[in-house]
Amino acid sequence: ENKALWSGRFASSPAEIMQQFSQSIDMDWRFYKHDIIGNKAQAKMLTHIGILTTQELEQILSAFDEIEKEIHDGTLIPKIALEDVHMNIEARLIEKLGPLGAKIHTGRSRNDQVATDYRLFMKDAILLIQEKMTALLKILIEKANADVDIIVPGFTHLQHAQPISLGHYWMAYFWKFNRDLKRFTSAYETTNFSPLGAGALAGSTLPIDREFTKNELNFAFITENSLDTVSDRDYLLEFLFAASTFALHTSRLCEDLIIWGTSEFNFIELPDAFCTGSSMMPNKKNPDALEIARGKTSGILSSLYDLMVNMKGLPLTYNRDLQEDKRPVFHSIETVNIILDVLTPLISEIQVKEEEVKKHLNKGFLLATDVAEYLVLKGVPFRDTHHIVGNLVQYCIRNNKDLENLTIEEWKNHHEIFDNDIFDILTPESAVDRRSTYGGTARSEVRRQIEKAKSLLK
Ligand code: ARG
Repeated sequence: ENKALWSGRFASSPAEIMQQFSQSIDMDWRFYKHDIIGNKAQAKMLTHIGILTTQELEQILSAFDEIEKEIHDGTLIPKIALEDVHMNIEARLIEKLGPLGAKIHTGRSRNDQVATDYRLFMKDAILLIQEKMTALLKILIEKANADVDIIVPGFTHLQHAQPISLGHYWMAYFWKFNRDLKRFTSAYETTNFSPLGAGALAGSTLPIDREFTKNELNFAFITENSLDTVSDRDYLLEFLFAASTFALHTSRLCEDLIIWGTSEFNFIELPDAFCTGSSMMPNKKNPDALEIARGKTSGILSSLYDLMVNMKGLPLTYNRDLQEDKRPVFHSIETVNIILDVLTPLISEIQVKEEEVKKHLNKGFLLATDVAEYLVLKGVPFRDTHHIVGNLVQYCIRNNKDLENLTIEEWKNHHEIFDNDIFDILTPESAVDRRSTYGGTARSEVRRQIEKAKSLLK
């Protein structure tokens, strides 16, 4: 029987094109396991309040086990006329159990049912993402640990700025992604409320027990207001925001790594396993994985807006527009997962070209700030030191010299306070290690961060 479960009110069935338009099976069939979990909890609750007998419950539970197996084996094919996962599963139950199956929807609406399935589904999805993110965070700690002693130019405006420990760079991404991880936790907490029992919008005249289903479904809390419950999707928006900051951070990281892999920079060798060649130019090794990741992140960012725009004009409570809440979220879940699956091994296999990196360290007068701060420690006001060192840099550029190989006379020509100890600070190592303020790039500070990061992941 292909009739919709609500067909009683109608003289004729929806047009074929309307059925195509109306169905959400292409999206929500993925909920089938969670729909069955929700159904079982509902059946147990109905038994608990005396609407089903224990024998009836047994029959219903084993019928749901069979249905789950049929779906898993691909023998139960959902029907478009039955719109969504909820009605397909319920219709199958009724097919199996007759009038007994027809009792399952007691005190329930698809409006609270879809919210229940979705929240259960999201809890699993978030936990999986968090597991993968934790693996990425561990790789970043490993990289930081391995690369603490490698000194690279740090950039602002993509111009050489000051030398930094490469370990410090990896840890910067550790902290960004660690905040994303926290945002996913927060989304999980917002999701962890049981909507079941809100009904279509106003609750139920039947003595349904929401506390019972909440416990049965392992939700931490129960939602407080039935109108809010069936119209609310901000647990999804929160997830999409967490996914979006993750995407944005990923995109920036990919951008750096792409730049570092160019022959102009030549800081790193990307793993062959995550690059591809050109069909025409035999010389090419392209950073495609990083580019695809950078490209895919835009889909996640737009998903957040997709759902926000969908919802902004909706009157309370449920409106069918909300059925379109799945595409953006599923798309984001898939994209976050595949990016994590690729990025984690890619990063772990990056080779740093230490000798090549060193060639860059004397290019951009990276130690200019150190010289200015040297003068500050000798009592010269910072604004003056800035000017003096600016002149020194100009002098070097004009005479094709580096700060590192000026003579003591040349230093003194710019300020009489310069002394032989200026030569002690003119190495990238000392520039890095002297920046030992809390959170600075000194290797001691990078090691402190690594220890702290490790303790957070325990
Ligand atoms: N397929 C619907 C969705 O995904 C289920 C809820 C339908 N409710 C309704 N009143 N038509 O949102």
